[in-house]
Amino acid sequence: MPIQPIQMDMFDPFQVYRPAKERGDLSHYRETLTKLLSEDFDFHGENSSYATHNFHAFPAKFPPQLPKKFINALTFPGETVLDPMSGSGTAVLEAMLLGRRGIGMDIDPLALNLSRVKVTHLDPGNLIRNAESIIERALHSFQHEKRRLSKTLSIRIDPSTKKFLDYWFLEETQLEIIALVREIEVISDLDIRRFFQIALSSIIITKSGGVSMAYDLAHTRPHKIKDKIPRSAMDEFQKRLNKNLKNIGRLVWGNGQAELFFGNAQAIGLADSSVDLIITSPPYASNAIDYMRAHKFSLVWFGYTIDSLSKRRGDYIGGERISNFPMRDLPDYSERIISRLSKKDPKKGSVLRRYYTEMHLCLSEMCRVLKPGKAAILVVGSSTMRGIDTDTAKCLGEIGKTIGFDLVNIAERKLDRNKRMMPARETRVSETQIEERIHKEYIIGFFKPT
Ligand SMILES: C[S@@+](CC[C@H](N)C(=O)[O-])C[C@H]1O[C@@H](n2cnc3c(N)ncnc32)[C@H](O)[C@@H]1O
Repeated sequence: MPIQPIQMDMFDPFQVYRPAKERGDLSHYRETLTKLLSEDFDFHGENSSYATHNFHAFPAKFPPQLPKKFINALTFPGETVLDPMSGSGTAVLEAMLLGRRGIGMDIDPLALNLSRVKVTHLDPGNLIRNAESIIERALHSFQHEKRRLSKTLSIRIDPSTKKFLDYWFLEETQLEIIALVREIEVISDLDIRRFFQIALSSIIITKSGGVSMAYDLAHTRPHKIKDKIPRSAMDEFQKRLNKNLKNIGRLVWGNGQAELFFGNAQAIGLADSSVDLIITSPPYASNAIDYMRAHKFSLVWFGYTIDSLSKRRGDYIGGERISNFPMRDLPDYSERIISRLSKKDPKKGSVLRRYYTEMHLCLSEMCRVLKPGKAAILVVGSSTMRGIDTDTAKCLGEIGKTIGFDLVNIAERKLDRNKRMMPARETRVSETQIEERIHKEYIIGFFKPT
């Protein structure tokens, strides 16, 4: 399929984004926050794939309308919005589109690359020229230089990573992907190179289709389907590029800014009282969504070894490694849940303590960098461990209060499990499939007193 020319039918951003509010509107900031938290957050049926939001699947990403609502109501253009666990960068992109300064950080290399691509202004004409050249050259080497491609694989991929590839990808698919990787990596401009890497990654990490033998990668629950017929990487890459190029061509960037950096949310590299709004959604307790389990399928193609990626897994908030972890005492309600869980399973009790300990550090850092008189919004879901609900929202609300936040309210929102890319349950727990997909998550609204 040839690369299609972009239709430059630029849209008026203010048809999509509400105009900036006048300064006077925020005189009752706390009341605005209280009112916001009583509103509806379902956004079901709304378009979430505008701008660059749909460049890549990402488990538990925000519907863009959610950060947009808080950014619009609680900040002015030019102010700083932070997401310290920014994932695919939804909040940072929304901040930027709304003329704010979005700052994001994450420890996941794929999340960081993806969010950088989503906020980078790229020239569509230049991208099209590069796309045509990559596809033409990669197709040529796939059709005529298979032996050379096999050699490239054997030289650059170490034995454990190759074992992983052989289990999950057909030999032909490996050759197609490495042919594309080689053409992408010769692009000297880092931003353009990343754009193509993310397009390639997005055809690997998918729900059901995709080019590997895995099913459900987008939910971070890969399982191998032996009789799956993987799609052609060349075809999928071209289709994906056409989609992404079309979206980029229609974008009007405005004058917002975005900065994304590699960093741990437990030690935020920003000055005290420097941020106007925090909006974030932390990982689930006990690795319920295991980012690295899925992201390694893509990262191994870009120079990471499978062993180095497995080592990184332990650093994610909500990880299961507990030996030598410096645990802390927690507020009463969290202690009671941990104690109930520990009676059933002492190890799981410690895993949950680790999670709340990590989140205590994150919340302390958020409180430090936030300006007094401003809000931090956390979107969280609960996990079930050994049949016990971790009641994450209530526990984090309590922990936040011990740190110095005012807990304004905890709102609920129903979510479409499929749409927000949540892991599917292994057993059926409710009456109908539709019910099964609709679950709740919680929006915690904190206020930092002046
Ligand atoms: C629920 S996702 C965020 C999704 C995001 N709201 C979006 O719209 O794409 C949680 C993120 O936290 C990141 N994370 C886990 N541990 C972290 C840490 N210690 N510091 C920063 N980010 C971390 C994960 O890599 C993941 O991207």
